[in-house]
Amino acid sequence: MSRTTAILVITLTALAALLSGCSANTPPVDTVGTVAFATPLKIPPIAESVTDATGRRTVDLTAEEGESRFTTGTTTETAGFDGPYLGPTIVADRGDHVRIRVHNALDEPTTVHWHGMHLPAKADGGPHQPIDPGDDWAPEWTVDQPAGTLWYHPHPHGETAHQVGRGMAGMFIVREEAEAALPLPREYGVDDVPVIVQDVRFDDDGGFATDGGDYVGPLGDTLLVNGTVGPRFEATTDVVRLRLLNASPARVYRFALDDGRDLALVATDGGLLDAPFATRSVQLSPGERAEVLVRLAAGETVRMQSHGVDLGGDGSNGSNGAADRFDVLELVASDTLRTAGTVPATLVPVQRLDDLDATAERRFVLDGKQINQQKMDPSRIDEVVTVGSTEVWNVRNNMAQPHSFHVHDVQFQMLTVEGAPPPPELAGWKDTILLRPNSDYRLIMRFDDYADPEIPYMYHCHLLVHEDEGMMGQFVVVESGDEPAVPDRHGGHGG
Ligand code: C2O
Ligand code: CU
Ligand code: CU
Repeated sequence: MSRTTAILVITLTALAALLSGCSANTPPVDTVGTVAFATPLKIPPIAESVTDATGRRTVDLTAEEGESRFTTGTTTETAGFDGPYLGPTIVADRGDHVRIRVHNALDEPTTVHWHGMHLPAKADGGPHQPIDPGDDWAPEWTVDQPAGTLWYHPHPHGETAHQVGRGMAGMFIVREEAEAALPLPREYGVDDVPVIVQDVRFDDDGGFATDGGDYVGPLGDTLLVNGTVGPRFEATTDVVRLRLLNASPARVYRFALDDGRDLALVATDGGLLDAPFATRSVQLSPGERAEVLVRLAAGETVRMQSHGVDLGGDGSNGSNGAADRFDVLELVASDTLRTAGTVPATLVPVQRLDDLDATAERRFVLDGKQINQQKMDPSRIDEVVTVGSTEVWNVRNNMAQPHSFHVHDVQFQMLTVEGAPPPPELAGWKDTILLRPNSDYRLIMRFDDYADPEIPYMYHCHLLVHEDEGMMGQFVVVESGDEPAVPDRHGGHGG
């Protein structure tokens, strides 16, 4: 190569890096082919519960600090529930009356939010239900929603990224008869497997680095699946159901198998789709879940990876992780496999919400880490919703960077994305969606039950640093004609 050519190549490379938004010293992360997959995938235990004479099931959870060893030789200060990292999986049937007694053994206040759950605002575990160090909080409610993969995590105002980033998160599985009647794998940890994905970066002392990060927030270079680095799962069945949860603060993943085989997407955030959707990849932004079925042949090894993330926009999202590639999880099939289920032709019909039933329409514009030009103010109620009503929420990301949108209490359906019907993977029940740059989403939701004029639910960007910076608003659900009872409601407006 001549000197002139070499200079030209260097210049073009630098220019390309500039255009893709990657500075020259932060090339995309690429762990494909470098992960050893030497450690069995940890499976969080199922939380124990005690049922009293009234039929109420109590689960005890303790939020605590601890130390974790993710790789040999290093110790990381972490936090979790009933252990040093993550928490047990809570499993409940639709109709169960659950009570969860949370003890805060941390030395700072926390909250525990049941992400995706339809429940009373006072049980929601958002910023208005703080638990001081040493205190207990014991919300209870009756689980009444379709079978699905939910999760729980702290939600203290301004501290969510810090606490979730140290490991505080767990899965919450709802089961019900309609789901149980389908020939789906459902033996927890055997053919029905939690896959909680987080990205971290270790500093020189083995701790989690919390600095850095571009617009979306901190992005790691090492993946943990259920707290396991380089996880390998030994499958003993011909179909495995993976419950994918993106519990990362900022990173978006696009999960696919390394040989490009189809996954059968059977459920999104709030439950089953009408029918499995065969797809090569499933993209999840922070807080989103998906259930996929993977078919395996005896004796084979396949790897789940993440690459090809589509954050939209003008190509400047390389610095937000769009160009990164990861090895995620190795699936090793035994030499003989049991039959665990099939990929059914249909699942459970999703009851469609109809925009003709909507009695209110609202608009939310995300811009400058604000929603509708305001930062979250715990003393301001932004929206007042009438219990029992159906509403259309028009959500716009007004920026060249990605954001996301999560609504507490309800599962919603997407009416349109950029004016078009949603793709199959966004056509089911959702509570969190990625908002692509400069894009409009039309969502429909019904606010059944649990009027409370005093205690709000949240809606927010689920990129945790944005949420902590106040990209969040509050709504109350009230009886028809009621006013919110929260003081200082300047800026509040009804439907
Ligand atoms: Cu997953 Cu308001 O949270
Ligand atoms: Cu939530
Ligand atoms: Cu955001």
